[in-house]
Order: sequence, then C-alpha cells, then structure tokens
Amino acid sequence: NLGSLSKAYEKEFKVGVALNTSQVSGEIPEATSLIAKHFNSATPENLLKWESVHPREEEYNFDPADQYVSFAEKNDMFIVGHTLVWHNQVPGWVFEDKKGNTLSSDRLLQRMKEHISTVVGRYKGQIDGWDVVNEAVLDQGGMRGSPWYKILGTDYIAKAFEYAHAADSSAELYYNDYNLWKTEKRQEVIRLVKQLQAKDIPIQGIGMQAHLGLRHPPVSKVEESIEAFSKLGVKVMITELDIDVLPDEEEGATANSLELNPYSEGLPDSVQQKLTERYVELFKLFKKHSTNIDRVTFWGLNDGQSWLNNFPVAGRTNYPLLFDREYNPKPALKALIDLQH
Ligand code: G3I
Repeated sequence: NLGSLSKAYEKEFKVGVALNTSQVSGEIPEATSLIAKHFNSATPENLLKWESVHPREEEYNFDPADQYVSFAEKNDMFIVGHTLVWHNQVPGWVFEDKKGNTLSSDRLLQRMKEHISTVVGRYKGQIDGWDVVNEAVLDQGGMRGSPWYKILGTDYIAKAFEYAHAADSSAELYYNDYNLWKTEKRQEVIRLVKQLQAKDIPIQGIGMQAHLGLRHPPVSKVEESIEAFSKLGVKVMITELDIDVLPDEEEGATANSLELNPYSEGLPDSVQQKLTERYVELFKLFKKHSTNIDRVTFWGLNDGQSWLNNFPVAGRTNYPLLFDREYNPKPALKALIDLQH
C-alpha cells in the first residue's frame, strides 16, 4: 500500500487530474478508485470546451459537465473549469453570422458574454476556478492571431475575465498557457497580467501548462517563470503536467521519422527510470516553491488516456503519466510519495 499522492502533498499544494466522460461516469471502477485515492482536484480534459458544451448557437450540452461536477463534488475535489475562451475546439459559427460573414466586434463580444455567463453561471458556487483564457500568447512573444484577437484585439482577454467575474464573483479566474518557461512568452504574459491588474480586472492565477520532455526544458527555466509569476501576486498552478518519453530530436527523431511505437516491447527500464527521475526533479522544484504553487494537475490519469498518443502524429504509444494502460502505478508514483517521507 503506497498511500495517497494528494494526501502526501496536502500541506503544500493540491494534486489534480484531467478527467473525461468515461471516467466521471464511473464506468471504469479502477479509474474511479485511483482518482478518489490520489487526487484532490479535477479539471475536465474536453467536456467543458466550447465545442462540447455549446456546439450550436441555440444549443448547450450540459450533461457531461453536470456529471463531471457531481463526480468531483462526490469525491470532495477542488473543481476547475477548462476553458472559456480558446482558439481550439471552438466551432466556426462562433465567429460568423448566419450568412457566414465574419461577426462585428460588438456581436462577437455579445456572444462571448452570453457563453461565459451561461456556462459559469450554471456552475456558480460549484466550479471553484476557471481557465478563462487559454493560449492567447505566442512562444516568441506577442499575441496569437486567433479569431478572438483578429476581431476583438487584445481587449478580448480583459472582457472575458470581466464576464466570468460577473457570472460568479467567488470563482478564481486564471490565465492558462503552455511553454511559459520560455523567456519571451513569460515576459508577454507578465505584461498581460500587469495590464489586467492595472485595470482592476480580477485574475487570481496563472496556469503553467507542463507538457514537458524527459530532458527539456531544464527545471531552471521552469523555476524562473514560477518566481517571476509569483512576484505578480497571483497563484501559480502547474497545469496539464505530462512527460513525453518517446525519442526526441536529440535522439535523432525528426517530424518525418516519428515512430508510432518505438517501445513496442514495453517501456525499457532505463526510460522508466528517467521518467521517475524527471517527475522527482520537478516535484522537488514545486515543493521548493510551494508557498506560491497552489496546485499541480496531471493531464490525465493513465497512459491510455493521454493526448500524447495522438501528438505530434496520431496512433503513437506514449507513456507520459503516473499509471500505465492497465491502471498499475508506475515507479514514479511511489517515488513522488516517498519524497514526502
Ligand atoms: O469527440 C470526438 C469524437 O467524436 C471523434 O470521433 C474523434 C475522432 O477524431 O475525435 C473526438 O474528439 C477528439 C477530442 O480530443 C475528444 O477526445 C479530438 O479529435 C481531439 O483533437 C481532442 O484532443 C484534445 C486536444 O486538447 C484538442 O485540442 C485532447 O484530448 C486534450 O488533451 C487537449 O488538451 C489541450 C488543453 O485543452 C489545452 N492545452 C493543450 C492540451 C493538449 O493539446
């Protein structure tokens, strides 16, 4: 008996997991018991994204999200909503009128407000924190040229936070993005948060997605961002944590030569060990900054669930999480718990 991961870190930060419909429905008993035992926060991997919850203008699909919220409540978890305004998994109609013409900024703002008020409002007092805006900034700095940005300019970000706050003033509101360890991107996000703060727009946290490699980036880069964001007076959350273990460019893999299943005989011990060491090195960093880190969320429960099986090409067999395809714990889980003893 290993003990519980989230209990082990209870005094430092919450430990979360991304969930899908198949898990919150309770149809996989192994999943249900591992989630209840090891995690005290939940994030919906897909079911609250615009295309899922609001597929057509007049149609909301709340069943999966209702199920998610009641599953998380039943298990006494901190409940995250993901995500209100993003350029992915948002239907094309959102940006068009009935004739297929690009919406005016006024009408798009109205539509964004309606969506946010309806979704946040429905779970007022139940969903504890929202990823309000996701991935608005480019790796090299500057704003992503998404339809949101093209039609509304940078101001769409402030508006999204305002609308979310108006719909549930007690929910925490976050900006969430990947590669925030990169210097230029970090600086752009700092600028953005300072602009919001200067206008008194409520923002309680920055979610640092952590789709990381076995070796890259160095923890020192991640640490620089944790420190810089902490200085803004917002909570820092490590969101979307997973570690891609498949051979990378340094090991000779190129975009064209990405093998689907380089470890078809099973994950070699040496790689399993690297995965453990990488998780331990990261958790040591998170512990060091636990006064500022509020939550660490894994992007999935077990390897079979991971989006990395479909990225950067579909049909791969990756091993990025703490549990294998049969729901067995990996050595990394024990190592993370042991780190607390
Ligand atoms: O639901 C449909 C299904 O009906 C269809 O038959 C099937 C065929 O492709 O696709 C299913 O949709 C998939 C969806 O996940 C639900 O499983 C999409 O193809 C697939 O693209 C989508 O991937 C998700 C991805 O976001 C899309 O952008 C991943 O599961 C999810 O892990 C990933 O999560 C994002 C975060 O939200 C934001 N940060 C990056 C992160 C990783 O990309």
